[in-house]
Formats: sequence, C-alpha cells, structure tokens
Amino acid sequence: MSRKILVPYDGSDPSKLALKWALLDAHDHGFPVKLLYVVDQRSVDMLSGFASQREKVVEELRREGEKVLEEAERIAEEMGVDVELEKKIRVGVPWREIVKEAESDEEVNLIVMGSHGRTGLEHAVLGSVAENVVRHSPVNVLIVRSEERIEESVEKAPVRRR
Ligand SMILES: Nc1ncnc2c1ncn2[C@@H]1O[C@H](COP(=O)(O)OP(=O)(O)OP(=O)(O)O)[C@@H](O)[C@H]1O
Ligand SMILES: [Mg+2]
Repeated sequence: MSRKILVPYDGSDPSKLALKWALLDAHDHGFPVKLLYVVDQRSVDMLSGFASQREKVVEELRREGEKVLEEAERIAEEMGVDVELEKKIRVGVPWREIVKEAESDEEVNLIVMGSHGRTGLEHAVLGSVAENVVRHSPVNVLIVRSEERIEESVEKAPVRRR
C-alpha cells in the first residue's frame, strides 16, 4: 500500500516536533513525506495596501516559506533519516489548503501536524488550523502533542538502519 505522510509545517516548535515524529515513522516504514507550507491569505491582504503590491507580497511570503521548508530539510538531514522529501507551498487559508492538498494527492493517507503553531493562543486546546484540519480532512490526522514525554521519546529515538 502506498502511503505518503503530509506534514503541514509552519516552522513553529510544535510543528518541528510533529515533523520529527513523522520522519521517524516514515524512515521506519519507507514512506515518503510531503512538507507543506501555506502562505496565509490574511497576511497577504494585510501587507498589500494596494492591489498592485499583491504579487510582490506573495512572492516575498513564498520565499519566507521556502526558507522554512529548507530548515525542515536540514532537520531531516541532521536526524540522519532516509526519507524521500517533497516540498510544497500553497497560498490561501491554511487549513483549507492543507485539506485540499490531502484531497488532491491520492497517495497521502495520513496528516501529521502539531497541536499548536506560530500564531497561537496558548490557552486554546488546539490551534484553529489543527482543529479545522481534524474536522475536514479526508484522511486520518495525527496531532502531535507538545508534551515532555513525547519530546523525550522523539529526541531519544534511535534511527534504525534499514
Ligand atoms: N501556515 C501554515 N502552513 C503549514 N502548516 C501550518 C500552518 N499553520 C499551522 N500549521 C500546522 O498546524 C499546526 C497547528 O497550528 P495552529 O495554527 O492550529 O495553532 P496556533 O498557531 O497555535 O493557533 P492559531 O493559528 O489558531 O492562532 C502546526 O503545528 C502546523 O503543523
Ligand atoms: Mg497558527
């Protein structure tokens, strides 16, 4: 069975933990991982005063996203995992774009993401992106909790030779 793990990644600590979890799982099973960064439409709207500035703003935010995904690749290298990585950037409402990606890529059958992200309110049980993906995803969603025992198990996990 083909199984690709979709990892929505915003560069936040919780998304890093989710990434590491997904990479260990993918390494052990030989699954590919698709990293997805969504340029938030609301940031584009906020930063472009005139319609004519839009394209430039989108370009800039895309470049930011590329850097974030490059950092994710570096994390994979440092961990020493042998995982096929794909990177993708979308523009829109983050949860909608994550769901669309899972819908359009038939190989994706699992989403692994953090419980919180970069823009979060600490008191919310789940960030709004995580909550909406859980509600609307066509595939299973694994929410990686930012708990000490999980952080420890990820940091200590041996990367097994395949
Ligand atoms: N722009 C994004 N692109 C890709 N993945 C994202 C993006 N935003 C959030 N995520 C994913 O969703 C997870 C949960 O983040 P979420 O945004 O729901 O929490 P939050 O930022 O704490 O809360 P909120 O956004 O509701 O203020 C992150 O760990 C990450 O995996
Ligand atoms: Mg957020």
